[in-house]
Amino acid sequence: MLGNFSYSNPTKLYFGDEAQKHLVEELKNYGPKVLLTYGGGSIKANGIYDEVMSALSAAGKEVTELPGVMPNPTTDKLYEGATLAREHDVDLILAVGGGSTIDYAKAVSVAAWYDGDPWEKYYLRQEDPDSDLRIIPVGAVLTMVGTGSEMNGGSVITNHATKLKIGKVFGENVMPKFAILNPRYTFSVPQRQMVAGFYDIMCHILEQYLSGDDDNTSDYMAEGLMRSLIHSSRIAVKNPHDYEARSNIMWTSTWALNTLIGKGKSQDWMVHMIGQAIGAYTDATHGMTLSGVSIAYYRHIMSYGLHKFARFATAVWGVPAAGKTDEQLAAEGLDALSAWMKEIGVATEISSLGVTEDMLEGIADATLIMKGGYKVLSRDEIIAVLRESM
Ligand code: NZQ
Ligand code: ZN
Repeated sequence: MLGNFSYSNPTKLYFGDEAQKHLVEELKNYGPKVLLTYGGGSIKANGIYDEVMSALSAAGKEVTELPGVMPNPTTDKLYEGATLAREHDVDLILAVGGGSTIDYAKAVSVAAWYDGDPWEKYYLRQEDPDSDLRIIPVGAVLTMVGTGSEMNGGSVITNHATKLKIGKVFGENVMPKFAILNPRYTFSVPQRQMVAGFYDIMCHILEQYLSGDDDNTSDYMAEGLMRSLIHSSRIAVKNPHDYEARSNIMWTSTWALNTLIGKGKSQDWMVHMIGQAIGAYTDATHGMTLSGVSIAYYRHIMSYGLHKFARFATAVWGVPAAGKTDEQLAAEGLDALSAWMKEIGVATEISSLGVTEDMLEGIADATLIMKGGYKVLSRDEIIAVLRESM
């Protein structure tokens, strides 16, 4: 394990097909005014809204609704929510949805009582909330898996005017206080969104796994999570209502990005940085922006981390190692990843997401270049990866 670190996670999880029954008892820990935030209406169609409303009513809450959180929530929506939360002086923000809604709730929680521009402070300048800021607690009812937002401090906001999509990782004081994880709540997610979430999970694990040459317990955990995801995803794409598969994937998703498997490890995150820049230009589905560039990116850096890529092939995909060089194994591992992506049906070309040739330079400029992976990319290399991904 590299370095010195601390680990704690304050989010209390309730998991299973009766998890929502715990909502009333959790709600009782907060004051009477609740800001209920959700997306474009899926929760009304699938009945989750009614269940949440009856829990709010049973807990005696006064509810202000904040619907319309769009996928890839925007700065304008953030300002709207911050004003509403402050005006109503709410005691809790209850986010019912996927990563967009939960990320958004976190952003509102630190924006409501901050007098400056939250986009500039938290996202552009990457500052933490002031120590005396009143932060509104957030609770989550998860309806779509992938981001891990239900148990982490991540919050990604998009500014369309400046074509920037930026994530901020907040600390424990912003992470959800509790999260309700009922796998059945995810059954109604459209197939395309479902598989985008599956790839998001895979990518979160890979960003933490494909880096470093040390022997590290976190990597063994990552391999187990990936094997479970691959197995269950194959079942879920054929039968989205398979509870066992969907529940395994939900649990994997949470553990893929709640900081556990990144502990004591170098990490990469370049696929996410490129994906976010693509998102800023196209507003495409997050998981698809990652799948669109992954294979080209990994082929580009593979020779710098050959041994790990070879281990990925054998430990995760079961590629037989006998008589093969690390180069051969590494290439076969990426072939297996690519075949699985096609099998589950995620985008493998960014042109299919609306990326056009004239955007490539701008996307490269909007990509934050991070260190920690096997190769620190130059701007030209990012353009090369993007071009190969078209
Ligand atoms: O808006 P509604 O009507 O709810 O529809 C949503 C939305 O259209 C739909 N959906 C969700 N649950 C459903 C459902 N439809 C039917 N039945 C259900 N049960 O799915 C669509 C996508 O939802 P969204 O929340 O946007 O998806 P996701 O969970 O992938 O979140 C994406 C956002 O999270 C950020 C992404 O950048 C993006 O902005 N991320 C957050 C991270 C974090 N907090 O750590 C890390 C990730 O890497 C990611 O960057
Ligand atoms: Zn992601």
